[in-house]
Amino acid sequence: MNKKWSALLMTMVMILVAFVGCSSENGDSAGPEIGIVLPTRDEPRWVQDETRFKEALEGTDYSVEILFSQGSSATELQNVESLLTKGIEVLIICPHDGDAAAAAAEAAKKEGVTVISYDRLITGTDAVDYYVTFDSVAVGEAQGQYLVDQASGTENPLYLYAGAASDNNAFLFFEGAWNVLQPKIADGTFVIKNSEEAIALQEKAVLTREEMGKILNQVTTNWDFNEAKNKAESHLTAVGAADKGDVFILAPNDGTARSIADTFASDSDVSSYVITGQDAEKASIQYIIDGIQSMTVFKDVRSLVTDSIGMALAVLDGQSPSTTGSYNNGVKDVAAKQTEVIVVNQGNVKSALIDSGYYEASEFTGLE
Ligand code: BGC
Repeated sequence: MNKKWSALLMTMVMILVAFVGCSSENGDSAGPEIGIVLPTRDEPRWVQDETRFKEALEGTDYSVEILFSQGSSATELQNVESLLTKGIEVLIICPHDGDAAAAAAEAAKKEGVTVISYDRLITGTDAVDYYVTFDSVAVGEAQGQYLVDQASGTENPLYLYAGAASDNNAFLFFEGAWNVLQPKIADGTFVIKNSEEAIALQEKAVLTREEMGKILNQVTTNWDFNEAKNKAESHLTAVGAADKGDVFILAPNDGTARSIADTFASDSDVSSYVITGQDAEKASIQYIIDGIQSMTVFKDVRSLVTDSIGMALAVLDGQSPSTTGSYNNGVKDVAAKQTEVIVVNQGNVKSALIDSGYYEASEFTGLE
């Protein structure tokens, strides 16, 4: 080999050494140590989580990769497989579909990766190590209680909506709402207007999962704004003017609440409506300030992010993360850390969301 070539080879070796040296600064491997998989970019809720993860990780040495599944369990599995190829040690995953995600969790487990279920529980598998979540039954109870507190007299028309049956949380939210609403349906305060299944079960204080499933099948929004709108439209078409007037609407989250509120607001037989939500999405905070959505349940995503990153770092440090309880996923009791929620309406929107530094006042109009 002549001098020129050996010099070139030396240079290439040096570059390679420098490159490997540099990428190992972020840990033992060249790839991310923590992989995060979120359900979809199409809902502001999950973009909010991505932003909060990025904020929480700014200035730390840990290398993290965040991927979105775009409402597809197949994409979710591919995302997990690609993160496994890159050598992650901890997977933080919010499943699109709790049952279907068992395959992704099992793939991770096979590689010795610790699996943290984020916000939504992965069900039907023992491959989940931890669960970080909000108190989802309390979310539903807060929604139900809000409707009860705004109602007076009897025979108030009640319209029920729910989340996707593939999401375990949808059951927990509905269970919470039913805990509070059912006695007020049984005593005649409310009359259900849009679900034969719910009417058939209205005397039952505690529903089985199967019974809830029947109601959910009828009133699900699938967490989809368009499906929510279409359902609300067909419900309003199916009933007469006497079933409208001053109405009460259980909407499962902010995205669907905005669609449903817009639909009810444009029906001339609806004189007023009270509607619930959750997530404190910016668009819904503006709706609340403007009086178009009645309330939201604020789930401070910063806490969930801090808890899940804290768990991941504990695992990377060889410690066992602290938990506060457990959730059964059908196969095992998954050790869980739970965060409380806060009810927000026009009265406390500023103190809960602006004064706490969650949002900037300049992001909204009409805020006093
Ligand atoms: C989450 C909610 C969210 C909904 C739709 C639920 O699992 O807990 O915050 O609004 O999914 O994405």
